[in-house]
Amino acid sequence: MELKDIVPWGRSGAEYARMFALTAEDLSGRRVLSFGDGPSDFNLWARSQCAQVQSVDPLYAYDADAIAARIEAVRPDIVAGLQQSEAAFHWEEFDSPQAMVDNRLATMARFLEDFRARAHDNAVYLPRALPDLEGAIQADLGLCSHLLFLYSAHIDAATHWAWLQAMLGRVSELRIYPLVRLDGAPSEHVPVLRARLREAGYAVEQCPCNYRVQRDAYHYLRVTR
Ligand SMILES: C[S@@+](CC[C@H](N)C(=O)[O-])C[C@H]1O[C@@H](n2cnc3c(N)ncnc32)[C@H](O)[C@@H]1O
Repeated sequence: MELKDIVPWGRSGAEYARMFALTAEDLSGRRVLSFGDGPSDFNLWARSQCAQVQSVDPLYAYDADAIAARIEAVRPDIVAGLQQSEAAFHWEEFDSPQAMVDNRLATMARFLEDFRARAHDNAVYLPRALPDLEGAIQADLGLCSHLLFLYSAHIDAATHWAWLQAMLGRVSELRIYPLVRLDGAPSEHVPVLRARLREAGYAVEQCPCNYRVQRDAYHYLRVTR
């Protein structure tokens, strides 16, 4: 995937903890594989709390300076988009669009500092695009934040299914957040894929979380073997 086709913008590990309702038991002593982390600092945040954490994203094929430049390039559009769609968000976790942007920039600065030191360590930052997971670990817990379902208008059901199968080939439990699209409507792929997962023998639960940023995004999907 070319860098110009990636919009790098990352949430913090603390936000991941709330969106996936992560407990100490979810992480302690466990191997975690996190899909599409981009410039989030989740890996850095989780590293001290679990046995191993590996993040997978095509962004990691690029060096830190190129990623930093791309973040600067996409930033005006992201800020403008946020200001135009203020009503689509709760302003509790962040009390204003500027506070959200400042928090995300600080998160991405932490990621970039860590990535400069570990960019070539594939055990930490693996440069792959789903469904290609060559080199990914076998993990107890898989996480996928703001990739599946959110982009339902751009990623079709067949691609969602292929990516889900690839992820479930590597993890015993998978959590996906959010279950709504960018426009806030429930993703049309969720009921289709839930049924398909059940047919394939997985247990699927829609679980509540305490993360309040995008309106109507109050659940994550938990898939277990
Ligand atoms: C909206 S960002 C979310 C970043 C982070 N998970 C978060 O919640 O802040 C979506 C991420 O998905 C990544 N991505 C896009 N296509 C992907 C694929 N086929 N496999 C893995 N990651 C992908 C992008 O590079 C980007 O970093």
